[in-house]
Amino acid sequence: AENVHIVVAAGSGSRYGADMPKQFCDLWGRPLLMTTLERLHSSAHDARIIVVLSADMVEGWREMCAEYGFTLPHDIVTGGPSRAHSVKNAVDTLCPETVGWVTVHDAARPMVTGDMMRRLLAALDDSHPGVIPVVSVTDSIRQILPDGSSVSVDRSIYRAVQTPQLFDGHALIEAYRQEIMPSFTDDASVMEAAGYTSLALVDGDTSNIKVTNPGDIARIELNGPAA
Ligand code: CTP
Ligand code: MG
Repeated sequence: AENVHIVVAAGSGSRYGADMPKQFCDLWGRPLLMTTLERLHSSAHDARIIVVLSADMVEGWREMCAEYGFTLPHDIVTGGPSRAHSVKNAVDTLCPETVGWVTVHDAARPMVTGDMMRRLLAALDDSHPGVIPVVSVTDSIRQILPDGSSVSVDRSIYRAVQTPQLFDGHALIEAYRQEIMPSFTDDASVMEAAGYTSLALVDGDTSNIKVTNPGDIARIELNGPAA
């Protein structure tokens, strides 16, 4: 069977607000995406890597790889208008006859660890076709009501969801045959909408942040050099 890492890197990084998408911004002296790919590969190396890029970044990414001597093998697929469309474009290239497990990972999360990957792989089995890493919520949470007022809620019943998420490849291919809905903010939600409701949760890692807002890359660099 062929295992695959899908890394979605076709977003524009509007909240980060740099002059190029955040996944190409400098982290430890080179484009952040290179650290994401290397750390993902180190965490589970027996998998082909597919990087999803917006069409207008494909040439630029190839130039960056040449400039920085980045030689980790990967295939390139072009992205779509939403994250789910971008994942779908990659999933649609998978071969149902040979696919094994598949991870789907945000390019904007450069801090994936081998420990986390081991927890994911250990929880994938016949009764759990998907495994997602979660962390508890540390901020207090309020629910905004239709009339604009708000109430505090019990945060202990909520978890924040990270990537990589790990799936049985056949199930993921089937799930991505459905129409893409705006509610699909991660791949677990796509699986659930397709009827795969018995997903396993494992501990994520509070260091595994998704670079989203200005300052997030600087915060990662403060935590120390690349491993
Ligand atoms: N992504 C993608 N294709 C899209 C949108 C997002 O591949 N059409 C990817 C991003 O590149 C990122 C991951 O999905 O690695 C998570 O998305 P997010 O953090 O929202 O990144 P952006 O959409 O780029 O940022 P923003 O929402 O601030 O514009
Ligand atoms: Mg986005």
